[in-house]
Amino acid sequence: MNTVLHDDHDFLLRPWTINDGAKPLHITGGQGVRCWDADGRKYLDFSSQLTNLNMGHQHPRVVEAIQKQAGRLCTIGPQHANGPASTLGRLLAEVTPGKLTRSFLTPGGSEANEAAIKTARAYTGRDKIITRYMGYHGGTYGALSASGEARRLDNEPGIPGVVRMFDPYTYRCPVGCTGDGPCGVCGGEQHLEQILTYEGAENVAAVMMETVTGGNGYIYPPNGYLQNIRRVCNRHGILLILDEVLVGFGRTGAWFACDHWSVEPDILTVAKGMNSGYVPLGAMVVSEEIGAFLAQRFISFGHTYSMHPLACASAVATIELLRDEGIVEHAAEMGAYLEPRLRELADAHPSVGEIRGRGLLWGLELVRNRDTREPLSPYNERGPAAAPFKEVQAAILERGVLPHGRWNSLGIAPPLIIERDELDEGLAVYDEALAIADRYYDVRVTPS
Ligand SMILES: Cc1ncc(COP(=O)(O)O)c(C=O)c1O
Repeated sequence: MNTVLHDDHDFLLRPWTINDGAKPLHITGGQGVRCWDADGRKYLDFSSQLTNLNMGHQHPRVVEAIQKQAGRLCTIGPQHANGPASTLGRLLAEVTPGKLTRSFLTPGGSEANEAAIKTARAYTGRDKIITRYMGYHGGTYGALSASGEARRLDNEPGIPGVVRMFDPYTYRCPVGCTGDGPCGVCGGEQHLEQILTYEGAENVAAVMMETVTGGNGYIYPPNGYLQNIRRVCNRHGILLILDEVLVGFGRTGAWFACDHWSVEPDILTVAKGMNSGYVPLGAMVVSEEIGAFLAQRFISFGHTYSMHPLACASAVATIELLRDEGIVEHAAEMGAYLEPRLRELADAHPSVGEIRGRGLLWGLELVRNRDTREPLSPYNERGPAAAPFKEVQAAILERGVLPHGRWNSLGIAPPLIIERDELDEGLAVYDEALAIADRYYDVRVTPS
């Protein structure tokens, strides 16, 4: 164990893992879609780290923007105006959908969602926030409470007023629909209306959801779902908060995932791909009306590092790159290239129950049987039953690719600058590793 790993083990605690027994790689450098460790082993990144490294490592224009700003002014408090923050505000108004024009800049995605919850409550004068069980909105108290997925359980009781609805998870519909057209839950409207009847629509400030559920299974809503949710919100004067922390800025082959369905939220939260994660940053972008409302009152939330100039400079460079180099269109093209290749993988491996995705965010749901859809490893499993999925991931890592995904969904989320031959290289490794998942397949039932 080298000194870095030794000190890391003895003096640090990292999130979202059991630290004793964790074996982090010691990454010493990176370039584009690859990084390497202290022993010089190279890795192709099929995860964009935590789905944030959209421009890949060390993009010269982003690095230069940070260096220039560091030379000029490393930091300044949010009570002052600074050039990169102002430019970023204007760019966000330009690239986000429709009437979203005013931004509250934060140190990350969680804080953007905290701001969104507080804003929705203040704007509507109502308390309740409806979120979804498979959603993740961040690690801070409010954002983790608003999340539905398992990590919130260790931190309960959370903030009051969060009510959860089911997800439009058509492969495992919570009420058992078989996918011949979405049911009341997967269609969104009927399920949400019913919840509002019981909760009192007049008490609900916002519906808050990931446009596409990213970290928890790559769940893309069926066509019509988002429009239905928007319609219900309009009917009851409820705000729609879309969390695009993971999918914003080109990840799904559109600037924002909500663009696929032409749905405009009242509040959009972003982070990660906004600046490729080079410096921590997030934003809550609000509609003109909400912006005007916030501008007239005392804002009782925020951070020392709101509007941080280094972070904003990296975001300005990233957004300009996305625009100048057609990277969003490139992500869409790579998605079109990937889809048939993933279908071939699914044909070759019975353990692939379903593939879903767009652009450069894809998930392969791994099962022990296609008829029963029994997952390869169960939801939220941390014990021995998680081993089969971990084995698949370990095999991918051993072959020099950083995988994405957890539980039983294997993901593909490389930097948006990836090219076809690099995708092929990673897919060849996934192909080999899926043979391990196939070994757990229940051969008594023939795959359909
Ligand atoms: C959809 C979504 N929202 C919010 C967050 C929280 O963002 P951060 O980790 O920057 O606080 C994440 C992080 O993974 C996310 O995926």
